[in-house]
Amino acid sequence: MKDEISREERVENLKGMGCSRKRVEDARFTQGKGNYVDDVKLDGMLFGDFVRSPYAHANIKSIDTEAALKVPGVVAVLTAADLEPLGLHWMPTLAGDKQMVLADGKVLYQGQEVAYVVAEDRYAAADGIEAVEVEYEELQVIVDPFESLKSDVILRPDTVDENGKAVDGAHGPRDHPNHIFTWEAGDKDPTEEVIANADVVAEEEMYYHRTHPCPLETCGCVASMDKVNGKLTLWGTFQAPHAIRTIVSLISGIEEHNIRVISPDIGGGFGNKVGAYPGYVCSVVASIVTGKPVKWIEDRMDNLMTTAFARDYWMKGKISATPEGKITGLHCHVTADHGGFDACADPTKFPAGFMNICTGSYDIPTAYLAVDGVYTNKAPGGVSYRCSFRVTEAVYFIERMIEVLAIKLNMDSAELRRINFIKKEQFPYKAALGWEYDSGDYHTAWDKALKAVDYDGLRAEQAQRVEDFKAGKTRKLMGVGLSFFTEIVGAGPVKNCDILGMGMFDSCEIRIHPTGSAIARLGTISQGQGHATTFAQILATEIGLSADSITIEEGDTDTAPYGLGTYGSRSTPVAGAAAAMVGRKIRAKAQMIAAYLLEVHDDDVEFDVDRFVVKGAPERFKTMKEIAFASYNQAIPGLEPGLEAVSYYDPPNMTYPFGAYVCVMDIDVDTGVTEIRRFYALDDCGTRINPMVIEGQIHGGLTEALAVALGQEIAYDDMGNCKTATLMDFFLPTAWEVPNYETDYTVTPSPHHPIGAKGVGESPHVGGVPCFSNAVQDAFRAFGNTHTNMPHDHWRIWKTANELGLHD
Ligand code: CDP
Repeated sequence: MKDEISREERVENLKGMGCSRKRVEDARFTQGKGNYVDDVKLDGMLFGDFVRSPYAHANIKSIDTEAALKVPGVVAVLTAADLEPLGLHWMPTLAGDKQMVLADGKVLYQGQEVAYVVAEDRYAAADGIEAVEVEYEELQVIVDPFESLKSDVILRPDTVDENGKAVDGAHGPRDHPNHIFTWEAGDKDPTEEVIANADVVAEEEMYYHRTHPCPLETCGCVASMDKVNGKLTLWGTFQAPHAIRTIVSLISGIEEHNIRVISPDIGGGFGNKVGAYPGYVCSVVASIVTGKPVKWIEDRMDNLMTTAFARDYWMKGKISATPEGKITGLHCHVTADHGGFDACADPTKFPAGFMNICTGSYDIPTAYLAVDGVYTNKAPGGVSYRCSFRVTEAVYFIERMIEVLAIKLNMDSAELRRINFIKKEQFPYKAALGWEYDSGDYHTAWDKALKAVDYDGLRAEQAQRVEDFKAGKTRKLMGVGLSFFTEIVGAGPVKNCDILGMGMFDSCEIRIHPTGSAIARLGTISQGQGHATTFAQILATEIGLSADSITIEEGDTDTAPYGLGTYGSRSTPVAGAAAAMVGRKIRAKAQMIAAYLLEVHDDDVEFDVDRFVVKGAPERFKTMKEIAFASYNQAIPGLEPGLEAVSYYDPPNMTYPFGAYVCVMDIDVDTGVTEIRRFYALDDCGTRINPMVIEGQIHGGLTEALAVALGQEIAYDDMGNCKTATLMDFFLPTAWEVPNYETDYTVTPSPHHPIGAKGVGESPHVGGVPCFSNAVQDAFRAFGNTHTNMPHDHWRIWKTANELGLHD
């Protein structure tokens, strides 16, 4: 048969990997046709909302719900006393701790859930909340983790024995009632010895402040218990719907096949929607009690004050080097403030996430890390906000330590990085803190980045600016912020990574229809990353059907194969790999069908873009569409009818994307106002599936990095009042603050991923935060600054300038 179109056209029509295919989901989103959880409206649906504690630490003497129950429209009020007989007044956290669903005798942070009012609508629920009378007895508040570890005040009575002694926690012995765990990696004694005997040692203490993912859509759910059929349906903003189904089953006793969890469209997650919240449990109970569907949707204050925060890491580092700048050792101690409950979302064996990637992109022979988790009177959480588990903290730490060491050595920090990078030929590289980096080419990326921004030119301009400043010719300083990061994404091998015992594989199932279109379902769930676009591209290339003919569906546990969800940039490394593997299963069967149809041996046909071709006779072929049709409609000896497959993928290792970022910033010394003149971001995420989607991910991640570095903060006063619970106080950048980003790339495929792809969604955040911060710090380097803590908002920058005597 003669082909009507060229091979190039066939490749183009496929819209497979490497194509900047437009996002298929955007037509829906941009026309207001998204279907978010608050769009779910069911007959007779009730609305639930919380009475929340105004105090950060208090005993609860009494809760009187009588008046609330008389408020028109109020249907029920739940307290811990109602949940206790069901064993639901506490729930397990993802970190192996437990958390009060409703206040059980005391509250541990401002905004904690005390009672759940169920009413006919949101307004009646609000009136009901006003009418619930709670008598509190205020207790001493501890917001400082260092004070917490010294205090006689026991925050959690459930964590001590009858003598007030700390009992063992989920991660081993605890040495104080307010201490949660100590987690170590690396070699303590050898590291301390290397540092003690080193020629050059730089030390720094830094606080990576508490912040919050603050997705545009807050958290929420609709629980609907069908008592006749015994089926519970739960719609919600879940980043891991299958894991939620399993958890709901375990804590409610409802069999898993009777629970259907649906994540509809989600308006951003960034880690905030991974965990389980009291709102989910209370809505399910309320639906069972009332026999009606119950909706719970947070408002912005609820979201910022009570759902999972990020960071809050106090990090203390020592780094040693030879006089020439070769790093010899790294020591890091972290005091991690987890708030009232340890509700971190980390794989079980990693209570401080992957903080042990803190040797970064450098060949550091000896290292040691210890992390102490601590309870305080703040909201629980500790999620990875747009990064793999605690990787932003790790990269911030090492990229600041590099700068501090460069100051100590009186050396250019770009050069210091270059002489310490892991070399291309050292991969796979076993790091001192345990990880095996799969691949990288850091020198090439660094050289490309520095050349692109004319690094030497920038340094010359900066030196001139310092002179001009000193001569009184300008009041603006110039900072050149550098960062080089290595991410670790794709949790994970099941042998290393589980959450509450659930292994972190992922899945893809595909069903090809007779006419050659398909539906594929995955265990992940997009929250804006464009999976419907890009997973179809992977499948298109693997199967040879156009991406436009492949529907991607995620988020319904009744239809999707089991998977651990989307966070930590794991979708591409894990579910993306499952998609490639499922495609290969389809192709293997298609090959047999094609060979039968072409009357040759299986080995005599080969795949070419969208068809199987007889080797050496390109005019003899069967297209994948023809093969799909035949699979259903032709009796093929030895083969079952149909063309479908499923793949559960357990990755052999994580993937290690990396990147080189440069930020050029002007700072007005008298106002503290920053102006980002240039931001260059080179990312290497291995094989690129959709360059346009990647670019979008990078713009978004950089913008969230800018937010965190330059102003975004969850701050408390000494009474434990959350001072930043609205968007008036919590900085969310808009187009006004965001600079023009220049994006660039290199491609170093992952050697173990079926298509060589690594994750990308979180890289720009991981690399961006230290880059923005380093730009601010670098501007003041010539005036004696070594380190100031983020967020670098205008008044803090002004204060730095003032402390350095620049206003004199
Ligand atoms: O897990 P999550 O979806 O948040 O992050 P990701 O795996 O880094 O993917 C984010 C988006 O970028 C997805 O739509 C991916 O398919 C796309 N991507 C890509 O086009 N090429 C890559 N090498 C990595 C991700």
